[in-house]
Amino acid sequence: MTDRIENDVDIDGKNQCQKFMCILTYGCQMNENDSERFAGQLKTAGYQFTDKLDQADLIIINTCCVRESAEKKIYGKIGELKKLKAVNPNLLIGIAGCMAQKDQEKIFKKASHIDFIIGTHNVHKLAELIAEVENKKEKVLAVWEQAEQMAPDVPTVHKGQVSAYVPIMYGCNNFCTYCIVPYVRGRERSRSVEDILREINQLAADGFKEVTLLGQNVNSYGKDKQETQGFARLLEAVDRSSAVERIRYMTSHPRDMNDAVIDVISQSTKICEHFHLPIQSGSDKILEKMNRGYSTEYYLSLMKKIREAVPNASITTDIIVGFPGETEELFLETIQLLKEIRFDAAYTFIYSQRSGTPAAAMPGQVPLAEKKARLQRLMTMQNDISLDINQSLQGQTLEVLVEGPSKNDETRWMGRTRTNKIVLWDKKGTEKVGQLLPVYIVNAQTWLLKGQLLS
Ligand code: SAH
Ligand code: SF4
Ligand code: F3S
Repeated sequence: MTDRIENDVDIDGKNQCQKFMCILTYGCQMNENDSERFAGQLKTAGYQFTDKLDQADLIIINTCCVRESAEKKIYGKIGELKKLKAVNPNLLIGIAGCMAQKDQEKIFKKASHIDFIIGTHNVHKLAELIAEVENKKEKVLAVWEQAEQMAPDVPTVHKGQVSAYVPIMYGCNNFCTYCIVPYVRGRERSRSVEDILREINQLAADGFKEVTLLGQNVNSYGKDKQETQGFARLLEAVDRSSAVERIRYMTSHPRDMNDAVIDVISQSTKICEHFHLPIQSGSDKILEKMNRGYSTEYYLSLMKKIREAVPNASITTDIIVGFPGETEELFLETIQLLKEIRFDAAYTFIYSQRSGTPAAAMPGQVPLAEKKARLQRLMTMQNDISLDINQSLQGQTLEVLVEGPSKNDETRWMGRTRTNKIVLWDKKGTEKVGQLLPVYIVNAQTWLLKGQLLS
């Protein structure tokens, strides 16, 4: 079942028995989707949305712990909620997501105003959990150590009206040595093709134009059921039988990006020409220590294959700087490789020690100041490349899926190209959310394009 997040209800008209929920989401798309599943369950239980914390009867913070900086920010936010509880003792506050899975009851110790903690494997149990908190009038910890083979589907309220996330699998088996995700999201579990198609067709019937198939490593789809070409077959099935106009997927591991998947993408008209393939480092020595399972030579051959098969594709990546043992010389190998590959965009991160992961105990930890300096150098270089690539699009007409008014300026509207670039244009008044329209690109910036709507 799918539904849309409706406009916030007029708070002034708040009826006495009407309950309001506010969900704050940190982290990746998987968390965004979990929040949509929380929202679906709460809506069924009679809650309405609000984005005003001080109007809420229930606040859920859906957390991320991929880097220390994310955790610090979230603990800061949790602390801020204490004063709301002082004003409204009936307010319920819950902590969900990856930090909840990792820290569990430690969160109660750090923040006594928290009422419940719900782990990443219990998302579908939210409504029951809230009823338990209300009935028992005591704190509840609901963190399963392991996932049920496949959690049952629950109602989902999607954010937006045009593009929706559809989880195809949960968990990760890769254990990259820096990464906490496999510890907090469990082993890989694939949803059935039928369930995925049913959800996508419902979304199409509800007016959604685009879906993003979600998983920590979508190329592993089906491997837990001994299907070696599971992702290629799933893409084919979604492409053939669904009524949406655009299909995206996130994230794919370079090691598992195979010819069958590239073939399906190159022959499809709905699967967008955007590849996000996190390379993480341009040094073979570091890639090995990261347990990524590929070499730079392999990655370059993959780029060649993709560019031959899908000539207009945009390619983006993730990079970690300052992994243990990364010397200046090895860092320069990353800079060199990025110059050679010329990614459309790179999401760059400072390596963060995550306790319990192998890399946290490796020798050769890089001082923070050095990590920051490397990040800056990398970003400066990559920004020039991104700008240069975007400038080559000036004068072209690109198909854009209209998402609506830009956040900061209602006179500007925004949409995305098939290659996942953001395009802004001056509102014409004739455009409608969800339309596919041609935009003439006038001006390019590092992270976005500006254009004129042609129809
Ligand atoms: N499953 C996805 C991404 C998961 S996390 C994938 O493998 O591509 C998103 C990004 O966060 C990763 O690609 C990596 O670049 C970064 N990341 C993960 N752990 C990190 C850590 N300990 N420190 C810094 N960045 C990290
Ligand atoms: Fe983390 Fe690696 Fe799994 Fe991505 S593939 S979630 S980086 S362990
Ligand atoms: Fe963060 Fe969990 Fe996603 S740690 S990046 S929210 S899987």
